[in-house]
Amino acid sequence: MSDDARRARLHEEARRILTANHRHGVSPWEGRAYDYTCPSPHSYPFQWFWDSCFHAIALTHLDLRRAKAELRSLLQGAQPDGFLPHIIFWERDRYRQVMEEQTLRLATPYLSASIQPPVIAQAVERVYRASGDEAFLAEALPTVRAFFAWLRDHRDPDGDGLIAIVQPDESGVDASPKYDALLDYPRDNDDLVRAINALYARYAPLGNDDARLIAEDAFVVEDVLVNSIYAQGLQSLARLCSDPAQAIGYRAQAQRVLDALVEKCYDPQRGLFLDLIGADERRAEVNTISALFPLIVEGLDRSITDRLVHDHLDNPAEYALPYPVPSVAADEPTFNPEDPHGFIWRGPSWVNSNWFLTHALHAHGYPAQAARIAQATRAMVDAQGFRECYNPHTGEGQNARDFSWTTLVIDLPV
Ligand code: GLC
Repeated sequence: MSDDARRARLHEEARRILTANHRHGVSPWEGRAYDYTCPSPHSYPFQWFWDSCFHAIALTHLDLRRAKAELRSLLQGAQPDGFLPHIIFWERDRYRQVMEEQTLRLATPYLSASIQPPVIAQAVERVYRASGDEAFLAEALPTVRAFFAWLRDHRDPDGDGLIAIVQPDESGVDASPKYDALLDYPRDNDDLVRAINALYARYAPLGNDDARLIAEDAFVVEDVLVNSIYAQGLQSLARLCSDPAQAIGYRAQAQRVLDALVEKCYDPQRGLFLDLIGADERRAEVNTISALFPLIVEGLDRSITDRLVHDHLDNPAEYALPYPVPSVAADEPTFNPEDPHGFIWRGPSWVNSNWFLTHALHAHGYPAQAARIAQATRAMVDAQGFRECYNPHTGEGQNARDFSWTTLVIDLPV
């Protein structure tokens, strides 16, 4: 099959999935109109934060009205202090059942109490550039800026520029083995759920007070993936703000985050980035996909990008598997390429991380690597359908089906 025919087929399949997973209506609380795409009808019926940002970006190729509506619905979750939740429970029919199956901390019966990586600035920028809709930008920007201010004010208590997460699902890479040391080294999903329940029990008396949660120091991670997306978002905000003083401020803040990533998280011996754990900032030594994520930030020094790309991404012992990019380096003892059954982000390849990395490789001038990952991504999605993740050795699809953010396959740069 020609590459053009494959691209056309993926485009049509993306349209089918984003149509099938479209949800709209009026909420039974406060009568708010919603219009979003659920990640997957069976496993994930609600509106998830970074998923919706990815859906909006894919929708820029298919339906600009829906791309804007998706982000508008998401921004309706904003709280007066600027916080944006990682889930909005618009869909009420499935609420009870999913709450029984999943371990979640809630702010209200309609909103979760956690964050997810702040892809929102980049998503607003992409939708604005595709639509040229100034009214949309004017409406969205204040809420996005307030969220970035919230992150700075509530999640950076040591003032080093890096924000902290306080529970694993705030990173979007929930069960990554890089958190194992903090969660009693889970051997399977049941172990992990037990450890997370124990963490939430410790948090329960503290309410949703971020300062107290961080002071408890039970799960505080200055996460490289989250902070790379944070820096990238600040660079988006600098481009979106027409006020020059605001733009300069965001550029300086983004640089500060990037400098802190390099100074505190970069291991020059191994040539990769490692998360900082706890108030004393111990390095998490596990080599996972987040070790490569600073590639997505503009301005990362070439001597570092070369190490990330040549020593790790191109290395068949770590990340250069037939269907890249595995979520954990293949030579880690915890690497598990098999169907995760809930114990996710421990080996399989995901289309959202491939999307981030192919755009980054393209921007930093590594065209061969960008093309290799993009082609393998298209091949596995075309062969196996739009699944949640894929076996990096065989390309076999795993976990949820008709998974909405896998439609990012139509937005790869090459
Ligand atoms: C899983 C993923 C998370 C995603 C959610 C909904 O929990 O780890 O990143 O947002 O599913 O798709």
